[in-house]
Amino acid sequence: MKKNSDVLQKIQSLRQLLAEYNYQYYVLDAPTVPDSEYDSLFQQLLQLEQANPQYFSANSPTQRVGAEAIKAFDSIHHKLPMLSIDNVFDEASLRGFARRIAERLQQSDIAYSCEPKLDGLAVSLHYEAGQLVRAGTRGDGITGEDITHNVRTISEIPLTLRTATPPQHLEVRGEAYMPKAIFNRLNAEARQKGQKIFANPRNAAAGSLRQLDPRIMKERCLSFFPYTIAFVSEGIPLSNSHYERLLSLKEWGFKINRDSERVMGIEACLKYYEGLLARRSSLAYDSDGVVVKVDDIRLQAQLGTATRAPRWAVAYKFPAEEAITQLLDIEWQVGRTGILTPVARLEPVFVGGATVSNATLHNVDEMARKDIRIGDKVIVRRAGDVIPEIIGVVLAQRTPNTRRVSIPTQCPVCTSPVYKVADEAAIRCMAGLHCPAQRKEAIVHYASRKAMDIEGLGDKLIDQLVTQKILNSPADIYRLDLNTLANLERMGIKSAENIVQAVEASKKTTFAKFLYALGIREVGEATAKILAQHFQSLEALYSASEEELMALNDIGPVVAAHIHAFLSEAHNKAIIQAILAAGVHWPQPEKRLHQSLQGQTFVLTGTLETLSREEAKARLEALGAKVSSSVSKKTHGVIVGDTPGSKLDKAHELQVPVLTEEDFLALLRQWE
Ligand code: IVH
Repeated sequence: MKKNSDVLQKIQSLRQLLAEYNYQYYVLDAPTVPDSEYDSLFQQLLQLEQANPQYFSANSPTQRVGAEAIKAFDSIHHKLPMLSIDNVFDEASLRGFARRIAERLQQSDIAYSCEPKLDGLAVSLHYEAGQLVRAGTRGDGITGEDITHNVRTISEIPLTLRTATPPQHLEVRGEAYMPKAIFNRLNAEARQKGQKIFANPRNAAAGSLRQLDPRIMKERCLSFFPYTIAFVSEGIPLSNSHYERLLSLKEWGFKINRDSERVMGIEACLKYYEGLLARRSSLAYDSDGVVVKVDDIRLQAQLGTATRAPRWAVAYKFPAEEAITQLLDIEWQVGRTGILTPVARLEPVFVGGATVSNATLHNVDEMARKDIRIGDKVIVRRAGDVIPEIIGVVLAQRTPNTRRVSIPTQCPVCTSPVYKVADEAAIRCMAGLHCPAQRKEAIVHYASRKAMDIEGLGDKLIDQLVTQKILNSPADIYRLDLNTLANLERMGIKSAENIVQAVEASKKTTFAKFLYALGIREVGEATAKILAQHFQSLEALYSASEEELMALNDIGPVVAAHIHAFLSEAHNKAIIQAILAAGVHWPQPEKRLHQSLQGQTFVLTGTLETLSREEAKARLEALGAKVSSSVSKKTHGVIVGDTPGSKLDKAHELQVPVLTEEDFLALLRQWE
């Protein structure tokens, strides 16, 4: 039997080691041990803790998985009020901010810290002697809610500060947020299951932090970036630069936002704003603007605080991505595979940098859940290049003359009955290519850029040609002649010539693009590539059984059944025959060295610029590759980002191929 003190020592050293591995993984993005090693140490610790409950610690790494639910929220008092920031919406007002500062300080060369304004929830963290003891929401700025149980599950927040000499008391404030990738994944899953979806990442973060049960919060995978040290006990030397203080928080175990920058003068702030705005849609998180802060803490103190907000900071907001407008009508759009999508016709509204008059309601279930009625005031969201969507109704503004929308029982285009498919949130017209809407969409897809890439043959023109029954299938495209085209409404002879030429030029294609162009259900670009690569010819693909198809990476029984059914159908065979007879051809694909990334192992080190570690991992895994956290002789490649760790040395030592971010992106392009 081991002595108690030995057990405690073992527990403590495991906790410290796991905390360090956690830090390497989440904060530095550079793990040094394989996941399996972490897991096994974690299990060891768990067992020791279970056998020795007297050594329980709420800050043990084992507690991150989410402890027991609480019954209600306690309140938490903010000794130093959690202030808000003044907003500005244009360049002139930002210059006004800088001018007032220059006047008050009698100084014009001011250094500013420019930071993305994260769209999440403000959280205050209290550490005593290096231990996280309490975490609270902002609340009304004076009194917030105690959410310590939930905050402990955020992997990017240290439970114990990484220092041998922690301050007696430290208060760090920052923003808890849900990364966009997580938000999209959770919503996609919820949508598929017909469950409630989150309106935006901010609501998702707020809803998660307000869970009584931390196990739910854990699944929400929130992140955290600190934005200020609100209090630190005396005796701890800190820089006078706010920006450097944030950097030093990294040493204590916080993940900091690498998109922040310290700049000189207001011109540079404007430039930073423009730069971040241009990157807005590719950021890993939702940001609604830039926070500009006077960097020197002493100058901050000199400027002081007005009633509600400090004078030394301002938020220069991005154009809003959400707006309220009136729902005029709901129409049903029939997609290529027959799914009926409710589309909202809106009173035009300027949002996310464009005027929006249509937005998707996704599917029948979601529409019903939101209880949207014609005449309602609705919230429309347009983020980046994503299709605008309705995220909610302003119930408070509902009037008695709004009316419910009836769910169609017939296809609005071909009047065939529609069906609700089991396990799907959608309703579907089953008429296939007999339905003009599906016919049109099939042809639009066939001609689209990633498919046969026929320039000039777009949505509107195809609509016209299908309506006039000139195009009944993709094969008819090759019968279009100058005369027919030039006689169409709004078509000049020059445009007609261009289209004839584009059709001709598109005949030379690749096998993969051709397969993708056919629009077989569930066969996207990636699957088409896999099929082309494996079968190399149409003949081989025709004679493949469902079992042979299923043997391929990424092709499950459903996809295999769709492919098989499509290619067995006489009507489809005839269309394919006609297309080939018209002269569509492709070079015999070269046999590649590898059939796919199936079974290959990659290791990531350092920070990639264009995608997060999670995304890089997910995309590799989607291609059948494995992602490991340690380099061995069996590793196929080490992908190296900014400030790589020791794995790069290891790769050199073992002569494992090293890929830059550019190489890596090229690799993905090749296989996706
Ligand atoms: S500084 C006294 N920095 O914006 C200034 N706030 O409108 C304290 N926010 O409640 C805030 N990103 O929740 C600061 N980089 C950032 C921020 C940020 C997001 C939020 C924060 C605050 C709100 C103010």
